[in-house]
Amino acid sequence: MSVTSSGSATQSGALEGSNAKRGLWSSRLAFVLAATGSAVGLGNIWKFPYVTGENGGGAFVLVYLLCIAIVGIPIMMAEVMIGRRGGHSPVNSLRLITERDGLKPAWKLVGAIGVLAGFLILSFYSVIGGWAISYVGTTASGQLAGQSADAVGAIFSGLLSNPTTLLAWHTLFMGLVMLVVARGVRSGLERAVSILMPALFLLLLIVVGYAMTTGHFGQAVAFLFQPDFTKLTTSGVLVALGHAFFTLSLGMAVMMAYGSYLPKNISIAKTSITVSVIDTGVALLAGLAIFPIVFANGLEPSAGPGLIFQTLPLAFGQMPMGTLFGTLFFVLLIFAAWTSGISLLEPIVEWLEEQKGMNRAVSTLAAGIVCWTLGIASILSLNLWADFAPLGFIPMLEGKTIFDLLDFFTANILLPLGGLLVALFAGWVMSRQAMENELSLSPAMFNLWFVTIRFIAPIAVAVVFIYNLL
Ligand code: PHE
Repeated sequence: MSVTSSGSATQSGALEGSNAKRGLWSSRLAFVLAATGSAVGLGNIWKFPYVTGENGGGAFVLVYLLCIAIVGIPIMMAEVMIGRRGGHSPVNSLRLITERDGLKPAWKLVGAIGVLAGFLILSFYSVIGGWAISYVGTTASGQLAGQSADAVGAIFSGLLSNPTTLLAWHTLFMGLVMLVVARGVRSGLERAVSILMPALFLLLLIVVGYAMTTGHFGQAVAFLFQPDFTKLTTSGVLVALGHAFFTLSLGMAVMMAYGSYLPKNISIAKTSITVSVIDTGVALLAGLAIFPIVFANGLEPSAGPGLIFQTLPLAFGQMPMGTLFGTLFFVLLIFAAWTSGISLLEPIVEWLEEQKGMNRAVSTLAAGIVCWTLGIASILSLNLWADFAPLGFIPMLEGKTIFDLLDFFTANILLPLGGLLVALFAGWVMSRQAMENELSLSPAMFNLWFVTIRFIAPIAVAVVFIYNLL
């Protein structure tokens, strides 16, 4: 991403020594694009529709939207603010803030949780990114044209049952992520995101347009937006909360890292809201694109992680110019996943550089290879190890494969925990004066944010956690 590289760019208000060699984002738009690139990814198009389908629709969507509004946005503001205040990589930003204000150094842990979470998420994220790569070929070859739901389903199960193919695509995806991270994240990405994100948006609109012609659009709208609370379980609430963190890239210090490059005169509140609204918009559009196809073809909304790979190819097989649109769509999905993948690897690499003194190429290689290896466990969970549930003796984790466990543990435990700590740090530990300076909101707005971050967000996360453990 392009940041102005002039050494004279100073970040007034950031901690000492933070700006000599660090450029800042060239504009508010640059930051919004970078943060959006991280936020919009497989979470919106792959995960949101399938978790919504698994958790019964409307009521789940409502809880998810509430989580974005009252937990997600305030925590995103806090992360960006801490990053800008610290002016360094997350772990060191927290260290500098704590040292300067005489606070407990243990807060560095927030950065460490983020590093771990990013690492674990990327291992399976890359496998799904690989599915998207594989579907470019599937669509481009024209083999989907006019296919039945069964035939499309068989193509998908064929892919999952083949560990070697999955490994090849996983390797390619991870390689692409490592390539960019090794060269430094802030070059070229900004331009890529500024073209690809709008293009993805447009293509989603085209699919929604097609979905409207299936005659089941109304049913899909009702499924997504008419809450039926009898379908909502306590674990559904945890999934909604976890997904809010996952989709906004919160709880793992990504926004802190990006915030450290944000110039002082840019409003943290406005930018955080913009990013969250775009992210939510993309997820809802994906839902509107997918569920009409589900209902029109008698598919199950609760089909699980394969949902978009069983519905979208059907749509592309039936719509005019479907081969072209389908290919384009999956290419864009790869880009969306790529920009998110990069932001997942970046914190670990930054940490290895700072902490272990490795150079960027070596740390990228080291982190990438370990993550890639871990990804193999997720690949095998889809076929050879499909019946292996290592923690199946715990009732809540019954039947969960390694892949399911990684997803569950990161999105539903680590990210909310990271977010909870960020909220506690901002709400109870950091100097109020410093936060007022960074956020420069009207007193009423500041108080609204402060009450949310101090009480509402942490209590909401804690309550959901406790309910699920009982
Ligand atoms: N937000 C990304 C998505 O929705 C995933 C992600 C999670 C990226 C956490 C960075 C950090 O696909």
